[in-house]
Amino acid sequence: MNNPLVLGIESSCDETAVALVRADRTILAQRIASQNEAHERFGGVVPELAARAHADRLAPMVADVLAEAGVALADVDAIAGTAGPGLIGGVMVGLVTAKALAMAAGKPLIAVNHLEGHALSPRLADAALQFPYLLLLVSGGHCQLLFVEGVGRYRRLATTIDDAVGEAFDKSAKVLGLGFPGGPALERAARGGDGRRFALPRPLVGSDEPHFSFAGLKSAVLRARAGLAEPTEQDIADLAASFQQAACDCLTDRTARALALVPDATALVVAGGVAANQAIRGALASLAAAHCVPFVAPPMWLCTDNGAMIAWAGVERFQAGDIDDLHAPARPRWPLDPAAEAVRGAGVKA
Ligand code: KG4
Ligand code: ZN
Repeated sequence: MNNPLVLGIESSCDETAVALVRADRTILAQRIASQNEAHERFGGVVPELAARAHADRLAPMVADVLAEAGVALADVDAIAGTAGPGLIGGVMVGLVTAKALAMAAGKPLIAVNHLEGHALSPRLADAALQFPYLLLLVSGGHCQLLFVEGVGRYRRLATTIDDAVGEAFDKSAKVLGLGFPGGPALERAARGGDGRRFALPRPLVGSDEPHFSFAGLKSAVLRARAGLAEPTEQDIADLAASFQQAACDCLTDRTARALALVPDATALVVAGGVAANQAIRGALASLAAAHCVPFVAPPMWLCTDNGAMIAWAGVERFQAGDIDDLHAPARPRWPLDPAAEAVRGAGVKA
């Protein structure tokens, strides 16, 4: 098959997303609906509300994407759906939809690991990116360093021993009263702040293994906020900037350690929702330059959850002949590297 076409479905957290992507990297059509209004007043994602919203939106969204692309279901070569890790209700809605479409069209199902979607997404945006590369995968539920050797070949070099970095952004934003979703709100607040004002910890910086830890940093933000009786907007901006600086320092120090472990990496790549953060992108670009290795970061919309990354992982798996059958299970926990030692935070979305 010359230029296979894959339909991708994503529903593992609070984005309902569908895309049609070809092997030549053309995105024929895509839709992403976030659920911020549904979760905002709870200050975090409510799993049952998320699952219901996916169930309401997904089927019409698939119809819209096919119609916009002018493609019939029969013209699609495979159906890719996120099968985990993630919030199980949403994962089940998306996976069952993908199975039903695959069955109706008589096409193969590809049950995609959400983390594999993030891991391969930089190759959708950048045709020149070759294996193997060092990937810093930073999202709401994960913070990992992976050596990506090929499709289906992911060696986990490090992970977080407690919170994911996105979780630390979201919780710190909540403590600072910055609203939901927290990551982008904290980044905006930090722009006007002095990142040197609050001395916050950099957990695990300098330690031998490149693992991460963010729980202590998050608690330090809570304590610093409690120490401000009536904080001004400037105080909050300074604390946000100090947090962001500490998070950047942790990410770059740990990534530098991992780079030393994989001298044959062709590039340093960042992916996942937190990769949308400009300060983090800038810090990693400088780190890569200092190590004389190219730096690759996907465009911002491809960093946060979307259907195109799942369709693209489907394209890569389809071309490698790695397809699933209708028995594929929904997996709330699903580490990318099955050989990696289990650590809390690995393979599970908080
Ligand atoms: O990959 P993603 O969309 O969903 C998961 O798979 O978790 O990542 C979402 C995470 C959230 O924690 C969100 O706050 C964070 O990415 N995020 C950011 C930014 N944009 C999204 N964190 C820091 N700065 C940002 N600009
Ligand atoms: Zn994600």
